[in-house]
Parts: sequence; structure tokens; C-alpha cells
Amino acid sequence: MTDTITIRRPDDWHVHLRDDAMLTVVAPFTARQFARAIIMPNLSPPVTSAASAAAYRDRIMAALPDGSDFTPLMTCYLTDDANADDIAVGHAEGIFTAAKLYPANATTNSAHGVTDVAHIMPVLERMQTIGMPLLVHGEVTDGDIDIFDREAVFIERVLEKLIRQLPGLKIVFEHITTVQAVQFVDRAGPNVAATITPHHLHINRNAMFAGGIRPHAYCLPVAKREQHRLALRKAATSGSAKYFLGTDSAPHEIHAKESACGCAGIFNAPYALESYAAMFDEEDALDRLEAFASENGPRFYGLPCNEGRITLERRSAVVPQTIEASGSTLVPFHAGDELDWRIVRS
Ligand code: DOR
Ligand code: ZN
Repeated sequence: MTDTITIRRPDDWHVHLRDDAMLTVVAPFTARQFARAIIMPNLSPPVTSAASAAAYRDRIMAALPDGSDFTPLMTCYLTDDANADDIAVGHAEGIFTAAKLYPANATTNSAHGVTDVAHIMPVLERMQTIGMPLLVHGEVTDGDIDIFDREAVFIERVLEKLIRQLPGLKIVFEHITTVQAVQFVDRAGPNVAATITPHHLHINRNAMFAGGIRPHAYCLPVAKREQHRLALRKAATSGSAKYFLGTDSAPHEIHAKESACGCAGIFNAPYALESYAAMFDEEDALDRLEAFASENGPRFYGLPCNEGRITLERRSAVVPQTIEASGSTLVPFHAGDELDWRIVRS
């Protein structure tokens, strides 16, 4: 049995670091494990310009402990009014790594998102030309579509058409949750990839209702049936270069989660790599963790792999019930559970 594993330092290709006091609390957890991360732009107000992205990047760097070796990769929040020239300039200047498509009102702080992809076609055409990746929150928002079907319907109504119209556009289908998403990504060209979160690999929709309503298992896209979780585990451990690590760590204060209308988001940053390692171990695929965590993402984005290494050891530890800092109380993913892997050196 393998008891330690050393891999290239990984990157997180999808994370919410928030701002202000919350940023100070959560950013060190991400920087401890990951060399780089794709930073989600759904602040309030959203990060829609290169100037606001550069300022946010500075705030992230200022929030990190001294000596941190971490590079935030910034994204542009697309709106119906997004301007192709501005985005291309931000990309050329090295400020924007990618742009994020939130369908309007799909999730937290997405009210300014895109109401119809037709409105941003000139932007997407330019992104295809310059090789700038489009990151997609893939859910329709229509109230008449069952929440568990919103990803599958988005594929049918939006993504299938988009890849026909712009066959060269680099697309990352973010935080996929369904067998339909796996099939879509598998069938598409090498310019279409997907991130998979730790929580969608570990829980199915029962977790939200285990003995009562469980707000800390609620995120968007919502966890689906077991057959979908199994398809995600298979995809992540398949060795396919199309799948890579993206935690979608999305912290909300405990009172905002434990509420009559609790926020969507699972805070998995503190034990993210340990959580992925446990899953790869359960699937007897630890030899494929490095590709998923540290190689497939940089290759897709056209960036070098990290040179540093990180070592994990098989040693079980209990995840704390809460994490408290700077007046915030956060409940981490796996709270109260034992995880069998620990980071020992990074
Ligand atoms: O669960 C989620 N939380 N899904 C998202 O798409 C957004 C995120 C957040 O920002 O809280
Ligand atoms: Zn997200």
C-alpha cells in the first residue's frame, strides 16, 4: 500500500477568495497548497475591468502570509455589455487569464451575468482568435427547469450550439456534476475541458437531506444522484487530460449558510488536496492524482507546470467542525470527518 505520495505542486483552476476580511481568512488555505489559482470574479460589484482585476490581484497578494509563493490568475466577469477590445487588451497585458460566463441569476452574485450568449458573441469570437479560455457556469436559470436538470439542459440549449459556432474556442466547463457533462466533454475536441470539485466527487444529493436539512452540503450546481457522482469519479481518475482540479471553494459565513435562505457554496479550501487524494486512493488511482492536480490544467491553459513538489502522507486526522479567524466562523467541507491523507511537505 502506498503511504506517501509526492507530486508536482498543484494549481486550483477555480476558487472564490472573496474580499476584505474574508479574503484574509481564506486566501492562506489556498496558497498553502496551490501554486496558482484561477480567481472567480463574482465579487460585489463584479470584476469586469482589467483595472478592477489588477486591484483585486493586489489585495489578494496583500492578504497572504509573508513568504507565500502563490500567483492569482485573474478572470473577467462577462456581462451583456462586455467589450471585446477591453477584454483583449486585459488579456494581452497579462491581467486576465480567462473570462467567466455566469448566466444571469444562476448563482451567488450573478445578477450582472449574461442574459443570452448571443449578446456576447463578438467577445467570444475575439477570445477564440486570441486563445483566451472561456470558463462556463453551465446551468440554465429558467424556473420551469428542475434544478437537478439545469446542467443537462444547458448542454443541450447552449453548449452544443456554442461549440458548433466557435469550434476553436477554449472552453472550461466548470464544476461539472452530471454524466451528461462528462459525455459532452469526452466527445468535444481538445479545446474543451472541465474542472471537478472535491465535493461533487464525495457527496451525492442525499447529503443535503441526511437526517435533516444540511446547508453545508448545498452548492451550485447542486450535487446530483449517485450515478452522476460515480461518472465524475471515473472521469477524474480516467487519465484523460480534459479533466483537472478546480475546488470551487466558496466560503460563506456560518450564519449565511445556516439560514432560512442559505447561500450556495462549500468551503473546501482547508483540506482540498487531502480530499482529492482520499478519493483517488479510494478509486485505487493515486498514480493519476498528479496529472489531474498538477499537469492537465497548465497544459490546457498553455502555462508551464510548477517545479515545486508537495508530499502527502497516509495519516488520518479529523477535520475541525469550524474554522474561526478575524471574527469569521466558517464550516469546512468534511467537518467532523476523518480524512486519511495529510500534507506533510510543500
Ligand atoms: O455554490 C456556489 N457558490 N456556486 C457558485 O457558482 C458560486 C459560489 C459562490 O460564489 O458562493
Ligand atoms: Zn464557483
